[in-house]
Amino acid sequence: MHPIAYHHKYMRPRDYGKKLLARKKKPKAGKAAKVAAAAQRGPTASRSPGAVSQRAPALPARPSEDLAPPPTSASPGAKKTLDRILSKAGLGSRTEATDWIREGRVKVNGRPVTSIDMWIHPKRDVVTLDGAPVREGAKLYILLNKPKGYLTTYKDPEGRPTVYQLLKGVPGFVGTAGRLDMDTSGLLILTNDTSFADFITSPISHVPKTYLVKASSRLTDEQLDSLRKGLNLEDGPTRPAAVTRLRDSEKYTHFEITITEGRNRQVRRMVEAVGSKVLKLVRVSIGPISLAGLTIGAWRELTTAEVRSLVAIREKEEAK
Ligand code: URA
Repeated sequence: MHPIAYHHKYMRPRDYGKKLLARKKKPKAGKAAKVAAAAQRGPTASRSPGAVSQRAPALPARPSEDLAPPPTSASPGAKKTLDRILSKAGLGSRTEATDWIREGRVKVNGRPVTSIDMWIHPKRDVVTLDGAPVREGAKLYILLNKPKGYLTTYKDPEGRPTVYQLLKGVPGFVGTAGRLDMDTSGLLILTNDTSFADFITSPISHVPKTYLVKASSRLTDEQLDSLRKGLNLEDGPTRPAAVTRLRDSEKYTHFEITITEGRNRQVRRMVEAVGSKVLKLVRVSIGPISLAGLTIGAWRELTTAEVRSLVAIREKEEAK
């Protein structure tokens, strides 16, 4: 049996900067063809120059995993559920991980486990999938230019297209940092760094998100001012927004809006609150990250500088 298999690398968002500075270059590799092979090798490093992608160093080997005590469903200091550990290792979604556990393919400390709600102590417990050690995945930060008509969920019961169908070649499982409506296109960040994703999406982070909007009517200066100042929506008042009129046609107004929240369907609801509708919505940037050069439906990894620039927003907010 393999020795220690998993290294806990919990990182508070404020630690990103230090972590990035301390990062090491990783060897290149593609997504594993088979999950078991991926588990053996661990998720891969970055594909693009400067991309942030790291793997935790292995801990010293345990003498024998068979000697380790079985994990409990409520062990003291337990940190993560088993499905989460498998998913964070970049091997698949939590749903897939749940299936592997149920199928008896996952062992903890040498014993088969079929309970999905087991808590694992990442530093102490040894997790294997099909006999191969599960190591925490390299950090992946993906930028996708989402086309209209794709859902940001992993699987759709109705069989509609999801953004995951566009992520071929991404070396590990990533979750979306926030959502875009099916009919919204543009910039979407996906990552396996859950703290980073929380930071991007949290309303208290105030990360600016900029959208291009085509309204279903010509908007007056007063209507644009209302969007700017903030409106009362059913889930509370909106924060002030930056709004720039781009052009008017006979029937429509095209404008740009930057909001520092990310509530569900927020832009659409704001435009409705001033008596119009959104006909077209494209997210063009999140903070300093833009879609420039990325064709619709394509993805790339964020560079270290881009991840850092997003982290800097948080540091600025904290300093206020
Ligand atoms: N606001 C919306 O209304 N929809 C989106 O998809 C994103 C922001």
